[in-house]
Amino acid sequence: MIILGIETSCDETALALIETRKVNGVFECRVIDSLVHSQAELHSAYGGVYPNLAKREHKKNLPVLFEKLFKGLKSASNDLEVDAIAVTEGPGLEPALWVGIEFARELGEKWKVPVIPVNHMEGHIVGSLLESDAPRGAWQRLKEFELPAIALLMSGGHTELVMISRGLPSGGLASGGEASGSRWSYQILGQTLDDACGEAFDKTARLLGLPYPGGPHISRLAAQAEEEGVQPPIKLPRPMIGSGDFNFSFSGLKTAVLYAVRKAQEEDAFTETYKKGLALEFELAVTEVLEKKTREAIEEVGARALIIGGGVSANRRIRERFEKLAEKSAIPLFLPSRHISGDNALMIALAGTLRGIPTEQRAMRAQGTKRL
Ligand code: KG4
Ligand code: ZN
Repeated sequence: MIILGIETSCDETALALIETRKVNGVFECRVIDSLVHSQAELHSAYGGVYPNLAKREHKKNLPVLFEKLFKGLKSASNDLEVDAIAVTEGPGLEPALWVGIEFARELGEKWKVPVIPVNHMEGHIVGSLLESDAPRGAWQRLKEFELPAIALLMSGGHTELVMISRGLPSGGLASGGEASGSRWSYQILGQTLDDACGEAFDKTARLLGLPYPGGPHISRLAAQAEEEGVQPPIKLPRPMIGSGDFNFSFSGLKTAVLYAVRKAQEEDAFTETYKKGLALEFELAVTEVLEKKTREAIEEVGARALIIGGGVSANRRIRERFEKLAEKSAIPLFLPSRHISGDNALMIALAGTLRGIPTEQRAMRAQGTKRL
């Protein structure tokens, strides 16, 4: 089965084409092509994603990316038939999402192929099941994991601890996926009550005078602080670390950073060294909260696997911390390779395939597939 994935939920316009098959009951896929166009630079002037600008850019970029994707395929004289289109239906920025959904619908009607709505967060989960070093075009097995599993999803818009188990879908991420013959269901155990984890990185970066998206910049400064032996200038709070539930709160952290920055500026102490130390302390605070809550979730549900996903999972310290946690908990860890930790359409196409074609659209599928 060949699936076209479309992702426009935030500030990345992305298209991907994948082929999937089942060999002896094992799900395999190969990436034919995956294109991502980031608008980050444009949004950087606003210090965050500006929804109407994102919408305008998606509208402009989607046809360009589409052209590029299929031109590349034709020149490689591939003879492919697209069986379905998978598109992110949410969560995300409403105006941005609609651009992708409308594009998918029009294409679906034109090609007479079904359109599969995909949950963006489920996309991040399945993205973590791909091999990190599989060459483009090569068949790879989707990594399998035992249930129940815990997924920690950290992006610019969401921070969620999700339990994945067998059985019928029960709210939360809405729909189960099917992999290697087993049905998954999702239950959100906890989530952020205010800012998302990536958002906290972005806002803190802004306070330190760093461009959007701020995560990689904070991470770089924190690494420099460690290399140079710079100590954190203050102790930041670890919000809700002992709350006894699985929810998060990151906005207080950003406020604490704001006060620290103001005070340092008043005292003429807002130096590069100060910024590095504060970036380190911020990263430590976020990491500790994420780790403790995840550890408790693993224990509570007796998880047999840990999955990490979302843009923040590119963070080196967080990756290392969770590698250690998984080791201590004696369960396997599934991390997305860094090039697909951010938003992309490959994970959407994959999640769409696992979810399968909605029954009401099967009749539509019978009408044909699109030969390129
Ligand atoms: O999943 P994603 O690409 O988009 C959304 O669905 O929101 O996540 C984007 C977020 C941004 O807030 C960005 O600052 C953060 O991921 N991020 C990082 C790193 N790389 C990206 N945060 C911390 N450390 C990083 N290395
Ligand atoms: Zn995302």
